[in-house]
Amino acid sequence: MTINECLKQQKVLLESHNIPTAYLDSELIISYVLNKERSWILARPEYRLNSKDLSNIQTLCNRRASHEPIAYLIGKQEFYGRDFIVSPDTLTPRPETETMVELLLSQVENLRSKVESVNIIDVGTGSGCIVITAALEISNFELRNTRFEYFGLDISTPALKIACENAKRHKVDIKFKKFDLIKNTFDLQESSFNIFLANLPYVPKNFNINLAATHEPNFAIFGGDDGLDYYRLLFDKIHKINSLVITESLPFQHTELSKIARKNEFKLINSSDFIQVFSSK
Ligand SMILES: C[S@@+](CC[C@H](N)C(=O)[O-])C[C@H]1O[C@@H](n2cnc3c(N)ncnc32)[C@H](O)[C@@H]1O
Repeated sequence: MTINECLKQQKVLLESHNIPTAYLDSELIISYVLNKERSWILARPEYRLNSKDLSNIQTLCNRRASHEPIAYLIGKQEFYGRDFIVSPDTLTPRPETETMVELLLSQVENLRSKVESVNIIDVGTGSGCIVITAALEISNFELRNTRFEYFGLDISTPALKIACENAKRHKVDIKFKKFDLIKNTFDLQESSFNIFLANLPYVPKNFNINLAATHEPNFAIFGGDDGLDYYRLLFDKIHKINSLVITESLPFQHTELSKIARKNEFKLINSSDFIQVFSSK
């Protein structure tokens, strides 16, 4: 069978299982199995697949047809233009989370030379995609008088292992640490300004999630009855700490999340799509 025939066959299979990105996913799986770039695949529609590659492609497409996330099948996901290793122990980085990086960068621009030392703390780091991207992007800024330190905290040891691999691959220095937001407290130096990046589990308990998300770790997704339990814990723990907090949650949760922040003396200073930025008053 040629690449072109295989692409068409697998696209039909995935479409019949309501996979919206059927063609793209077939392409990604073929390029993963052949260990070639997508451009290589697209330039060679008549290339004949051997029986081993074909069988591997069919196995992965069948798994995709049962709505396993494409990122788990090919072991990586793009975030902010870079590839990150993912596994079933980590949440798959979402495009909506890229806005968190955008809003962080505009805040860092505003800090220009006003503070000497900044800690960027990614709480619930998962694959590490947010804090690693932050470190890479901030390194492009001309901020000679400000020293940045980066931290990635998570309750999951296997996720932290993946995050460390990602940091190594992208050549950034991040301090990853096992941390349970329910039991632990933050160990912060008084002299530094802190920016918390928090894409914590925020889906309400009875919310219907899509089939792909059912393959992801439950503890990375659900945040109690209204979804905001982890944010209550976070704001409670950083009450009165001079800091910025950038959160992700569903737009219908934003009013309630602002109330939680306000109760802990944080005010909303910016917001876009799923992301809100809070500053200590
Ligand atoms: C929504 S995922 C976000 C992952 C990653 N930051 C991203 O944006 O792709 C939430 C993360 O919070 C972590 N988490 C869940 N419960 C936690 C807890 N009690 N303390 C610390 N981290 C927790 C999960 O392991 C998961 O990695």
